[in-house]
Amino acid sequence: MTSLHIDPPDYVKNQKLIEWVRETAELCQPDSVSWCDGSQEEYDELCRQMVESGTFIRLSEGKRPNSFLCRSDPSDVARVEDRTFICSLRKQDAGPTNNWVHPREMKETLNSLYKGCMKGRTMYVIPFSMGPLGSHISHIGVEITDSPYVVVNMRIMTRMGRKVMELLGEGKDFVHCLHSVGAPIEPGQQDVPWPCNDQKYIVHFPEERTIMSFGSGYGGNALLGKKCFALRIASAMARDEGWLAEHMLILCVESPEGEKTYVAAAFPSACGKTNFAMLVPPDSFEGWKVTTIGDDIAWIKPGEDGRLYAINPEYGFFGVAPGTSEKTNPNAMATLTENCIFTNVALTPDGDVWWEGMSDTPPDHLIDWQGKPWSPDSGRPAAHPNARFTSPASQCPSINPDWENPAGVPIDAFIFGGRRSDLVPLVYQSPNWYFGVYLAATMGSEKTAAAAGKIGEVRRDPFAMLPFCGYHMGDYFNHWLHVGRLLSEPPRIFGVNWFRKDENGKFLWPGFGENMRVLKWIVDRVHGKAGAVESPLGWMPKHESMEWRGLEVLAVDKFSKLMAVDREVWKKELLSHEELFEKLYDKLPKEFSHIRELLLSTFWLSPEHWELAPERYTGENH
Ligand code: OXD
Ligand code: MN
Repeated sequence: MTSLHIDPPDYVKNQKLIEWVRETAELCQPDSVSWCDGSQEEYDELCRQMVESGTFIRLSEGKRPNSFLCRSDPSDVARVEDRTFICSLRKQDAGPTNNWVHPREMKETLNSLYKGCMKGRTMYVIPFSMGPLGSHISHIGVEITDSPYVVVNMRIMTRMGRKVMELLGEGKDFVHCLHSVGAPIEPGQQDVPWPCNDQKYIVHFPEERTIMSFGSGYGGNALLGKKCFALRIASAMARDEGWLAEHMLILCVESPEGEKTYVAAAFPSACGKTNFAMLVPPDSFEGWKVTTIGDDIAWIKPGEDGRLYAINPEYGFFGVAPGTSEKTNPNAMATLTENCIFTNVALTPDGDVWWEGMSDTPPDHLIDWQGKPWSPDSGRPAAHPNARFTSPASQCPSINPDWENPAGVPIDAFIFGGRRSDLVPLVYQSPNWYFGVYLAATMGSEKTAAAAGKIGEVRRDPFAMLPFCGYHMGDYFNHWLHVGRLLSEPPRIFGVNWFRKDENGKFLWPGFGENMRVLKWIVDRVHGKAGAVESPLGWMPKHESMEWRGLEVLAVDKFSKLMAVDREVWKKELLSHEELFEKLYDKLPKEFSHIRELLLSTFWLSPEHWELAPERYTGENH
């Protein structure tokens, strides 16, 4: 037992919180407790301390004002899915796609790990709001952590501090988020710049709305507002309360006439979500604007008018740095000019940052993400491939004026995309909500890293939620079908694929800003303005119903290659859905078996429905 005083400031009135902090301090035995008020002074002081202790390097004030570089331990560089658990009371509520241990057993394991785990450290108490303060769509959490790195990142990624504590009042409930790097400092022992533990646990108790994370200091493992709360715990809350917590970006397309269309889009990790959320339309789209509401997570609730309203629960971007450049994402680059934290990128001799893809020619000399001298012939990346930036969303030039609107923005369309080198067309529209839910449930992406399995192998990632759903995936599909039934105006649902290749392995579609052409067709469809042709998958654009001005005309036969659905390959794909369905058998929506039957029955349609003939994609609009 410790006799540590937890000394809550006067404005902390929530008895449940005070009690929880007391219990946690007794268990973890920190040297002191710090109640975070979210002020600039607090942030600056923690950054100063981390520079002093060697955790942070202050970047050049001229090049990147008020910004820092941090290098993690090389063993702690990414989310750890195999150490992530959904500990619902019953195993069948977590489902076969989540790791599960009985909560009682897991708590025993964790309690013995947490015992004394903060010795020699400060325990920080971080009250935070996911979503604008006071929005009916927002929710409050409190993270207790022994990592100052987590505190400063949470201040960028969430609305954090005293104002949130005041909202908590005396008795309001909150999501309990406990985090420790799991590295106590014994008397006389020297701390390391990035403390962590080889044993890692990222654990969710959905019924209790509690998260317990141990052993890692990195990203989604440690900034518990993000994947742990805003997706895994929130998806369980959303199921119980009739809303949606999704792994989606939110953007707004504004036409030259000022018509606004809001779109939410789900892509698996590493498919360019941040780039799409901040898309810059080609010059030929004069008067069109794309603005950003969020780049990773959407909380979506049905409104009284029968439409869906979405907020971005986050306050900043925690994006993958490599591959981000003036060419691929100028809005992100402008967001990163000041007040940012960079983790595991390379350091330039003049005190700035660099990562692969930032410029065509790398600098001659760098210090790499592990603090070692680097030159272009070193034969290894200078930045870790999962190196990250943490930046305030408010600094993004494309941020939408309504991004903090507590009422949310009305969603007109959902887009689901994966990385598929063949088979899946550039864009298609589902005939209705039910087929759309099926489309999203069966979406897949090809593996890009050899380590994750065979390159090119398709991993099904339903709704891009496979690693992030806090309950049984079959129940999740049923929940989506249920929400659709509540809506008088359900958003239209589209599938996209930017990654289709030709027979020589070259991408058929230029991507990036040119994705605006696809976005415009989607927006036009939403407003009943664009033509389409019926196909066995749904509605597809005709060549002339897409805007080609400014792109050297994409020849009709190239377009038909991008759009074609090969009958035999598609049949194989449909049959392979069975593998996922079998896994989720006990909870699979009955609608899915019928939809699959209907899709299979299209194989007996006349051959023109399947032909690659360019004529099929031209001619009079339907
Ligand atoms: C992320 C992810 O970090 O999806 O956003 O992995
Ligand atoms: Mn993500």
